[in-house]
Parts: sequence; structure tokens; C-alpha cells
Amino acid sequence: MATTALLQVQGLAVQAGGVRVQQGLDFEVQRGEVLVVVGPSGCGKSTLLRHLVGLERPAAGRVLLDGHDLHHGDEAALAALRRRFGVMFQAGALWSSMTLGQNLMLPMRLFTALPAAECARRARFKLALVGLQGGFELMPAQLSGGMRKRAALARALALDPELLFLDEPGSGLDPPNAARLDELVLHLRHYLGTTVVMVTHEITSVFAVADRALYLDEHAKTMTALGTPDELLRHGPLAVRQFLQRGAAPAPAGPDRHPRGSA
Ligand SMILES: Nc1ncnc2c1ncn2[C@@H]1O[C@H](COP(=O)(O)OP(=O)(O)OP(=O)(O)O)[C@@H](O)[C@H]1O
Ligand SMILES: [Mg+2]
Repeated sequence: MATTALLQVQGLAVQAGGVRVQQGLDFEVQRGEVLVVVGPSGCGKSTLLRHLVGLERPAAGRVLLDGHDLHHGDEAALAALRRRFGVMFQAGALWSSMTLGQNLMLPMRLFTALPAAECARRARFKLALVGLQGGFELMPAQLSGGMRKRAALARALALDPELLFLDEPGSGLDPPNAARLDELVLHLRHYLGTTVVMVTHEITSVFAVADRALYLDEHAKTMTALGTPDELLRHGPLAVRQFLQRGAAPAPAGPDRHPRGSA
């Protein structure tokens, strides 16, 4: 239903290695929204993401996609729900022994009945979308760090996800390449209507792409702020303001948030 949030997180508690790292998480992700998850290293951002994509079971609470519980139901139904996501993990590795084309076609081969020629056509389209047209036959080792990140993003897009989860997509990139990746995320949202949940520790990224930011506090072990980056910078709890001030944009972003470097 169009009025329901695409993703609903209700009373969620998450564990890593048997230890509860976050609890009492209540938030929604609206269709077409870019929600950014921030917080100090080790606060549980990646752990939350693994729960949101259904890889791990919550210690409490639930995660609903279009009203369907992601952790309860028969395996076939759950698999169908999860196929609606694209995921780029923090390590974000491509298969090093496969070309970019093969990397992108693998999920299509595994999860669709598309003929090989159609998989190849779609893989080329996704590579072009991230600026890697002509990269179909390249091996990951032939790529720069920025290109590899974009290829990993293209692979996350392989199955035309309506919801994209990105864990630190810009980490390890120099500022121009990180900014390019941010732009790409905004383009995906604009042209494909993709809803995005993105973890980042790059404050410039937060201001460049986030409609709203969710702050996970490592001491309180729960979310302590949720709002637009500007709201949080001005009126958020002290720890959140300090966190955002580390790299706050010099000028408040306008309605058409522009990537860093163009201000
Ligand atoms: N498999 C595991 N076993 C034990 N502890 C773990 C495991 N995975 C994560 N942790 C711990 O859980 C906490 C949350 O980890 P998580 O990776 O979710 O943090 P994060 O916010 O993503 O950090 P970063 O910003 O460094 O990526 C950390 O204290 C981490 O050391
Ligand atoms: Mg992490």
C-alpha cells in the first residue's frame, strides 16, 4: 500500500557475537527516501544492516517490508522478500576470479530464469549506470579503488532492487571519488526511484545524500536522533551535534542537495 512505509523497524534489538549492541530501535524508511545511518565506530551500524536484510535474527522486535515480517514466514516467502533488496557490504568484495560482467550476471543466474543474452544486456546497462561502460570484460584487479566500489554498487543493482542497503560505500576512496559515489546514489534515487539505507562515517556524505539521518549511540545502545542532517546539526542531542560538526557542510544544503565540492 502506498501509504505504508516501505520498511518498518519496530522495537528492534540486535546482537553481535552474542552481545546486545543496539536495542529499542523504532523507525521507518519511506519509499524513495535516502536514510543514512551514522554513529561512532563499533556502535552497531553494520550489525543493524545485517538484521535489516534478514541475514540475522533480531534479539527482539521485528522488521517489516511492505508489512511482511522479514524474519518469520516460510523460506520461499522470505527469499522472495529479500530478493527485493540490493546489498553492498562494508567489505564490498567482488569475485576476483570473474570479470565485472560475470560478477553482475551471477545474481541474475542464481535468482532469475533470464536467458544468458538478457543477463549480459542488463549487466552492461548496470555497469553503464555507474560509469563503467566498457568494463564488462575487465577483472576486478584491473580497477582502481573507486571503480571497484562502483562495480560493487552495480552488482548490488543487478536484480533491480527497490531497496538498496549500502555499508560505507565511500570508505577508502579519495574525496572526489567518494563525492562521485554520493552523486550516483542520488541519481539512482532520482531516476530509478530506489529507496536507500546507507551506513557512512563520512559526514560530508551525510549532508550530500541523506533525507534523514539515524544516529546510533554506542553508550545508550539505542538510537538517540532521527531527522534531517540540518535539524540534527542544529537541534540534535549534544553527542550528535558534535559528531556532525566534525565535517559539517559550510553552507546549509538547499532543497536540491548538491554534492560536496560544488558548493
Ligand atoms: N562476530 C562478532 N563477534 C563479536 N563481536 C562482534 C562481532 N561483530 C561485531 N562485533 C562487535 O559488535 C559491535 C558492533 O559492530 P559493528 O560492526 O556493527 O559496528 P559498526 O558501527 O558497523 O562499526 P564500524 O563503523 O567500525 O564499521 C562492535 O563492538 C564489534 O566489535
Ligand atoms: Mg560497520
